[in-house]
Amino acid sequence: MKGIVLAGGLGTRLLPLTKVTNKHLLPIYNQPMVYYPIQTLAAAGIKSVMVVTGGNNADDFKKLLGNGEDFGLEEISYAYQTGEGGIAAALSLAKDFVGSDKVVIILGDNLIEKDIKKFVRSFETQPKGAKIILKEVPDPERFGVPEIKDGKIVNIEEKPKKPKSNYAVTGIYMYDHHVFDIIKTLKPSGRGELEITDVNNAYLKEKTLTHETMEGWWTDAGTSFEALFRASKLIAEKNKRK
Ligand code: G1P
Repeated sequence: MKGIVLAGGLGTRLLPLTKVTNKHLLPIYNQPMVYYPIQTLAAAGIKSVMVVTGGNNADDFKKLLGNGEDFGLEEISYAYQTGEGGIAAALSLAKDFVGSDKVVIILGDNLIEKDIKKFVRSFETQPKGAKIILKEVPDPERFGVPEIKDGKIVNIEEKPKKPKSNYAVTGIYMYDHHVFDIIKTLKPSGRGELEITDVNNAYLKEKTLTHETMEGWWTDAGTSFEALFRASKLIAEKNKRK
């Protein structure tokens, strides 16, 4: 299984902090933001990772992460996304890297308390399709939100005004290589992006989307100043407990 960290975008929600740097290089307590998703992948046993950057300071990622050995990786490679085409567009840059393998993708600003080891293990034995991880949240309208009937997801809506559940689809996705065929069929959304929610709905239609629920906290550090601040507090508390 391969791993991808999506660390592109212009980070406009964090201006002026992101005026001269990439949001994934900003500090979360004692480490740059991008360290956390890489550590999440490494802790799940992923050895080969691609970092997709974009916007400012793409070269700094190489300086910071090197060949990945500090994280226990065997290999780290880099791709560059021009503009803001969305998560699915960023993912399409990793087609050759993934090849015929399966892949776990984590958004560069998604931080978690625990680990994703058991989700990755269970996806390894899933014959095909995709797996998403849900988390109950107080503000689902900020996220991709599943509609769940009898324990099964029947649809996912991106940032719905009236969410049909209290769950967010977290920014941790597992796909087989068929994902690249799906991305080719996508059309840009209202915000002009190729939406990852559309990818997940395509797998849902094919009846090959599975889901699990995350234990411990999950947070997306890069979406607001409040989120950035909260992430630092959560990491500081987690470090103290260790
Ligand atoms: C993205 C996805 C959304 C998901 C969220 C998780 O939102 O589009 O479905 O719930 O990440 O962090 P964005 O950060 O692009 O607003």
